[in-house]
Amino acid sequence: MRIDKGRLERSIEELGRIGQTPRGGLTRLALSDEDKRGRDWMVARMREAGLAVTVDQMGNIFGQRRGEAALPPVIMGSHIDSVPTGGKYDGQLGVLCALEVVRALNDGGINTRCPITLAIFTNEEGARFQPAMIASGVMAGKIALEDAYNARDKDGIRLVDELERIGYLGAEPCVARPFRAYLELHIEQGPFLEEEGLTVGVVEGIVAIAWSRLTIHGVQDHAGPTPMRVRHDALVAAAEVVGGVRRVAREIGGDLVATVGNFVVAPNIVNAIPGRVMLSIDTRDPSDATLDRARAMLEPIVRDVCAREGVRYELEHYWRVPYTPFDRDVVDTVERAAKASGARYRRIRSGAGHDAQYMAAIGPAGMVFVPSRDGRSHCEEEFTAIDDIEHGATTLLLAALDLAGRA
Ligand code: GLV
Ligand code: MN
Ligand code: MN
Repeated sequence: MRIDKGRLERSIEELGRIGQTPRGGLTRLALSDEDKRGRDWMVARMREAGLAVTVDQMGNIFGQRRGEAALPPVIMGSHIDSVPTGGKYDGQLGVLCALEVVRALNDGGINTRCPITLAIFTNEEGARFQPAMIASGVMAGKIALEDAYNARDKDGIRLVDELERIGYLGAEPCVARPFRAYLELHIEQGPFLEEEGLTVGVVEGIVAIAWSRLTIHGVQDHAGPTPMRVRHDALVAAAEVVGGVRRVAREIGGDLVATVGNFVVAPNIVNAIPGRVMLSIDTRDPSDATLDRARAMLEPIVRDVCAREGVRYELEHYWRVPYTPFDRDVVDTVERAAKASGARYRRIRSGAGHDAQYMAAIGPAGMVFVPSRDGRSHCEEEFTAIDDIEHGATTLLLAALDLAGRA
């Protein structure tokens, strides 16, 4: 019983064509037409593999392979939505490796005691609808279904309306379900495995993540006749905040990372003083206390900058996920599987958020990482060599089999 590398490579290419960008990347925003086509393609492959497919109220897709005993399933999953001009590996790889595990079990005629479930989570990226991991968040009881349904994209379109439009507003309740273990294979998205010549990362946990939104209200006015002394420029204040975010990360140091990635200027024309700016602040650190410290340093910076420019602001800290250690037994199982697969591996921490983070709140979870070329992701250059993927997929297969138990 083994992973079919050629078949896995072909499925990566095929699904990767849905939403492919001219430069070989991927734009498959959550609940877009491309996402629908990707979902339809996956559902067809899951049914071909004999899985019983259901869809829940958040559009999460589950495909169940029956087990010999009436036990909770081992769930393997990830997401197939992408960031704009992202890559073909983030999320998609985890789903396709899980599919390949099911196919390999089928080929080998292997029955397991626990059922095995393949899961595809909605809007993991948080690129179109905020926050990220919204659907596993609802499933874990950390985000209210109502709030998730009312999340709006930048054009004001509601998540629930898009779920309905693309035909993935399911009936099954999106609530915590019992599972033997949740396993997610994912690209590392950082440089460590590649730098150290390793093929697999045994993920021990995921950093704490905080997302904030700052809206600055200045006074929109004409760029010509308005003297400098009477201006209240939202963008000038926002620019200083961006510098302040970088300064906080530098001053605290260690593993703290802080990013302003989304920046919306209104009216965003050449000859008007910007009246309003909205920007995002993403901070991450292994320690929740460090995130609190960063926030405590940032708030007075925003206050002072805005006071100097004479502008009003709202700072909303709207999403927070605590540092999440994975289940010790699942991590040990993944490590044994990595060893048995012949991978060169080590334990590692994730700097990116994953659905596994919310799944860990409701059951035993763990992850398998494979290296990212040049440590890059959330970009079109994202790439992982198929030989590394093979080690990761074999690790996933062996870990799933160990946890589900051979019948
Ligand atoms: C998901 O990609 C995240 O870590 O923001
Ligand atoms: Mn991902
Ligand atoms: Mn991502």
